[in-house]
Amino acid sequence: MDEALLAPAAPRPVPRVLALANQKGGVGKTTTAINLGTALAAIGETVLIIDLDPQGNASTGLGIDRRSRRVSTYDVLTGEIELREAVLETAVPRLHIAPSTMDLSGIELELASQRDRAYRLRDAIRRLNGPAEQFERARNDIDYTYVLIDCPPSLNLITVNAMAASNAILVPLQCEFFALEGLSQLLKTVEQVRTTLNPELTIHGIVLTMFDARNNLSTQVVDDVRQFMGSKVYETIIPRNVRVSEAPSYGKPVLLYDLKCVGSQAYLRLASEIIQRERSLRLAAA
Ligand SMILES: Nc1ncnc2c1ncn2[C@@H]1O[C@H](COP(=O)(O)OP(=O)(O)OP(=O)(O)O)[C@@H](O)[C@H]1O
Ligand SMILES: [Mg+2]
Repeated sequence: MDEALLAPAAPRPVPRVLALANQKGGVGKTTTAINLGTALAAIGETVLIIDLDPQGNASTGLGIDRRSRRVSTYDVLTGEIELREAVLETAVPRLHIAPSTMDLSGIELELASQRDRAYRLRDAIRRLNGPAEQFERARNDIDYTYVLIDCPPSLNLITVNAMAASNAILVPLQCEFFALEGLSQLLKTVEQVRTTLNPELTIHGIVLTMFDARNNLSTQVVDDVRQFMGSKVYETIIPRNVRVSEAPSYGKPVLLYDLKCVGSQAYLRLASEIIQRERSLRLAAA
């Protein structure tokens, strides 16, 4: 008998899975997913962004037009296809995306009677890495080191799937008056998921976004959030920067659109801070 058949299969590398979550709309989840993903890819990580928002902003912002979304995260959650088969390349080397479509908005009803409905994404990610030939329509056989999940602005079954599949949650908070509103509800949901679905789930950190130095309120919000959440808040603050908001209409991460702008530089700093925090989390777990 062929020796190779008897040899145990090499263990598959497991990606780190981080979800960008906040049920408040427009706080910077998608912008952070795209640009953190790009920055991580730029420093050598192999990154998959999973677009779990029916709005599909992460897909659009990475230049994936609607016609190319023949299969999507909806088909992954319904079990029609493997996650690997939904993956598309982007203009950024080592950054791929599993796009979403509006179909996803009906997933909650469709999965309502399924016993494993909260674990659909977790199970799909568990099968992600490994040789491509095992999947009929997979386009690459890269093993991902990071998976970033872009959540919708809601604490629904989609977000619960993301939390059940993740090692940790990253919470973008916009530097505006109601920044902390809803945060305790989000933290409560994370706690519920930890006790019921995913005992390993942690809060990775809170990233303050759209900071405007000319606005006293922004500074006040930073102080309040740091007081409330302490060291969970990243040192890096993402400034409000017009280049950041222009980039998606060109289908590009801001790091490709204008590397030198303050927004790009902030996202690069955030990526290195996150990598550092990852190291200390791993040391603590070892
Ligand atoms: N640092 C920034 N500077 C300027 N504009 C920004 C910045 N970050 C995000 N924006 C803009 O703010 C809007 C909301 O950002 P984004 O789409 O990332 O938020 P979101 O939390 O994903 O929203 P949703 O809840 O709808 O999914 C977008 O138009 C985006 O371009
Ligand atoms: Mg979004």
